[in-house]
Amino acid sequence: MNNGLPISIIIFGASGDLTQRKLIPSLFNLCRKGRLPKQIRVIGYGGTEFSDEQFRAHLEEGVKQFASFEFKPEQWADFAPNIVYIQGKYDKLDDFERLSEAMGSWEKGAGNRMYYMATPPGVFPSIIDLLGLTEQLTERSGWRRVVIEKPFGTDLASARQLNEQIHKTLQENQIYRIDHYLGKETVQNILVTRFANTIFEPLWNRNYIDHVEITVAEQVGVEHRARFYDGIGVVRDMFQNHLLQLATLVAMEPPASFDATALRNEKVKVLSSIRPMNADEVLQNTVRAQYKGYLEEEGVDPASTTPTYAAVHLQIDNWRWQGVPFYLRSGKKLKEKLSQITIEFKEPPHLLFPNTKEHITPNMLVLYLQPDEGVHWRFEAKVPDTIAQLRSVDMEFHYADSFGKTAIPESYERLLLDTLTGDASLFTRADEVETAWGLIDPIIATWDANKQPLAQYEPGSWGPTQADDLLTRDNRKWSTWDGRKE
Ligand code: BG6
Repeated sequence: MNNGLPISIIIFGASGDLTQRKLIPSLFNLCRKGRLPKQIRVIGYGGTEFSDEQFRAHLEEGVKQFASFEFKPEQWADFAPNIVYIQGKYDKLDDFERLSEAMGSWEKGAGNRMYYMATPPGVFPSIIDLLGLTEQLTERSGWRRVVIEKPFGTDLASARQLNEQIHKTLQENQIYRIDHYLGKETVQNILVTRFANTIFEPLWNRNYIDHVEITVAEQVGVEHRARFYDGIGVVRDMFQNHLLQLATLVAMEPPASFDATALRNEKVKVLSSIRPMNADEVLQNTVRAQYKGYLEEEGVDPASTTPTYAAVHLQIDNWRWQGVPFYLRSGKKLKEKLSQITIEFKEPPHLLFPNTKEHITPNMLVLYLQPDEGVHWRFEAKVPDTIAQLRSVDMEFHYADSFGKTAIPESYERLLLDTLTGDASLFTRADEVETAWGLIDPIIATWDANKQPLAQYEPGSWGPTQADDLLTRDNRKWSTWDGRKE
């Protein structure tokens, strides 16, 4: 950002939802906070017909409706003139030449450019090819960075192919693959919890941790996204990216430094240590299900076998985690919207107190990612006025109490800013994406080959009972919304 040149943010797919709901409200908020340079221009590129004025009005609506901050017309009046619109196709050379000319006339010789792919994934390669052909990606007079939205491929082969295609035109350090979970404050706080405190790291291993649970539950169903979601399903949509990313942050070794290469090396090491599953192991260690009523949703194939819920038991084969199960689950139409990571510690080796002859409730550290962001630490205390009766109590940290209710920004703000400053730590690298797909492919292949009927679950529940069995057979239970065991 700081080479002093003007910055252009070119958004492909500018007339779509993501631009209106997330990208523009985030850029506007960065501008309000004074975090964007003065010379900045946002160029919306899309198929829909808009004049600049119409496009700005459309975005203004989005900011009013979706931004979490108060809309102030005078601030918008400062920001909006920086936005322009170009109508064009994603596969037409002429249109890209027009874009290139428009950019050149604004930059007057030199400028930095961020290209944001907010389009359906099918057109990423064509856009990047045409940007290359029109020499818009050459870093002669300022940097060129490309942000790529998920999904990055639908399996290992397609992700590899996409990487190969874009590497023909771009260096890896110009590519910013988005996983919006990495932009969440609470997700970034996982590494801070682990590595800015001395109390956790000595315990953070197979000697003290019994198991790890990662839950990403959604209350919404497939909504208006059936065209994308049906056939894709929960494992491609949530596990390959968000849940595996969370697992890497919990499981990784302390990186040598906080820079993008060191961090991502450690994450790839974790992914490479996750034990791949053969078909029998997939059937044993995974559960998939569909919410009742999914087949009646608009746009869903009435015979669809797309899972909307999955639970997966992973093992990480390394010194730190050998024998510690990682249970991951995610689904739509569940009881609540809730993302949390539970680290359950082992029971004390010696049961000293009367009334605890068989069992002491183990300690638990719960990282609440959303919606009530915070960290809880559960431990045992003596109930007053008893000889030695124990009860579990909590120490709680809530972001809202410590930092204020509006302290947490939209994750896209951080990700957009990091792209502008050239920090790729919170973006996924080519090898990371491919290694993750390598773990997901056998799960999907086994499910596709397995003709057993898909389990179902009630909307508003915590998912299918089969997911409970995954833990019960290991003598364990999922934690509930407040981190406790039911
Ligand atoms: C997206 C998925 O990546 O994440 C959606 O495509 C899902 O299906 C969303 O709803 C969940 O994100 P968040 O931030 O609301 O937990």
